[in-house]
Amino acid sequence: MCSIIGCIHNSNLDVANVLVESMGKMEYRGYDSVGLATLSDREILIKKGIGRVSHVNKELSLNELKGEIGIGHTRWATHGGVTQSNAHPHVCARSEIAVVHNGIIENYLDLKNQLKNKGMTFKSDTDTEVIPNLLSSIIIEGNDLKNAVIKTVSKLTGQYSFIAMLKDKSLVGVKNHEPLILGLGSDGYYLSSDILGFAKHVDKVIYLDDEQFVIVNPSGYTIYDFKGNLVNLIPTKISKTSENVEKGKYEHFTIKEIHEQTSTVLQSGIESLDEFDTFFNILKTSKRVYVTGSGTSYNTALVAKYLFPKITGISIEPIMSSEMKFFDDCFNEDTTLVAISQSGESTDVLNAVAFAKEKNSKILSIVNTTTSSLAKASDSFIGLNCGYEVGVAATKSFTSQITILYRLLEKFDPSQKISSQLNSVVDAISKILENQKPVIDISHALKNINNLYILGRGVHYPIAKEGALKIKELSYIHAEGFAAGELKHGPLALMDEDTYVIVINPKDDGSTYADNLSNISEIKSRGAKIIGVSDEFNQIYDYWIPLPTLPKLFYPLIETIPFQLMAYYLSIERGNDPDYPRNLAKCVTVK
Ligand code: F6R
Repeated sequence: MCSIIGCIHNSNLDVANVLVESMGKMEYRGYDSVGLATLSDREILIKKGIGRVSHVNKELSLNELKGEIGIGHTRWATHGGVTQSNAHPHVCARSEIAVVHNGIIENYLDLKNQLKNKGMTFKSDTDTEVIPNLLSSIIIEGNDLKNAVIKTVSKLTGQYSFIAMLKDKSLVGVKNHEPLILGLGSDGYYLSSDILGFAKHVDKVIYLDDEQFVIVNPSGYTIYDFKGNLVNLIPTKISKTSENVEKGKYEHFTIKEIHEQTSTVLQSGIESLDEFDTFFNILKTSKRVYVTGSGTSYNTALVAKYLFPKITGISIEPIMSSEMKFFDDCFNEDTTLVAISQSGESTDVLNAVAFAKEKNSKILSIVNTTTSSLAKASDSFIGLNCGYEVGVAATKSFTSQITILYRLLEKFDPSQKISSQLNSVVDAISKILENQKPVIDISHALKNINNLYILGRGVHYPIAKEGALKIKELSYIHAEGFAAGELKHGPLALMDEDTYVIVINPKDDGSTYADNLSNISEIKSRGAKIIGVSDEFNQIYDYWIPLPTLPKLFYPLIETIPFQLMAYYLSIERGNDPDYPRNLAKCVTVK
């Protein structure tokens, strides 16, 4: 989490403005505090504060800092509370080096003690502050910058990237299992956790690999690995669409991205047509197939568990990425791990993949950021192709992931004619978006509740879990998704006249509808209120969210939309920021 950026201008322009704009684009990675350091007349200037970039900039005029070299940071706190002194950048005790950092230095306490014993003082509770102090102490011993970096990283444990700014007008970017990209622009050099940070200013980028670092100064850059070997990485041209992420006519990115699903569903995977064949060939010859992901992407893995066996004959075992290490006996050269991730940078997912790779399993991934670490670590990947998702809550990426599952099903059984039916799925999504009133009214009625339960059977169960995840992260209301049949095995004890239960209840051939109605009766007998999400009205519902009628295979794709909308409107009703919910970040790069 956290975003780090850096810039060296080769004109004499101040960089603060550029960095403030970049930080605004990057705060999806963490947004509890922000800070900027520039170098002006061999002096390091720093401003930092608590809150979002626009807020802190208004208070402190970050953009007015002088200097043509600078580094910036948006924070998602790991070590040390959300305070001004814990906000980055951090400087060494001699005020010679400033550092912004993303990730965790696991052995920071030991290092801090060693440095304190050498007389160094610390001002924050962060793990980050050891980096500038360690680097500084190694330089003082007489090492040049390159060797000082090599010695510094040899002492750090953990997964991290950082940018150090030194008084000799150089920036050092270090990548160790957290993202870092070097951008080459006509007006200077840029470093960032994500292309989004500098897309506007560069034509070409270099994706550093893990255990590499770059030393940049106004006249050029040099890349090394952690052993000190020179590394020659070829710059790649970037697509200019990367810079084009605006809210447009919408008030928030989240609602914009919910609406985009009328086109993103159709685009899902279409730039990876050959890879579908690769997936098909690998999956059909694998002895066992595991699917992994975190959060929403894990819910997609659960959808796969329900969708795949009937049509492909392949049984799918979903494993939460953060739990992967407890399944070490499962993996070998005959198994395939399908990793699902929007960002392709979630540490839990990358660690799960590394674990399966170590056992020689094949790695397939379904990922939105096709330049991500996950894409690189995979034998083959299918791109979601849904564009940048800025809202912290996953919306359009979820439906794109599910659409890719459908397109894979079609490879196994072309008679399913999935692709040709996707237009009617998109029409159904449009209909839900054109008639948001039922969801808006219910969100208004429910805005003060403390608990919400969502029930679904079969493939609708993962959608119930996803609906609950959306509602809790955007509204901060406790929401839980249950398999409807499990109700009587415990959760029924929670039902009383103050309880609201949403039941995902499309009118199917009988596999879920009739059983759900029985559950609804049991719930209503305890006085709870029912919100039915269904293509058919039933008077047993206290509230009804209508769904368009579709072939039943496609319901998971459309029934998730009302939950995204409800999470959004509940968030607005409760005065939250739907794009940047508290305590969260878009890209979770810590364990
Ligand atoms: C929920 C959400 C998170 C992510 C999870 C995995 O709305 O956004 O639960 O789904 O952090 O992220 P990716 O898919 O980037 O690996």
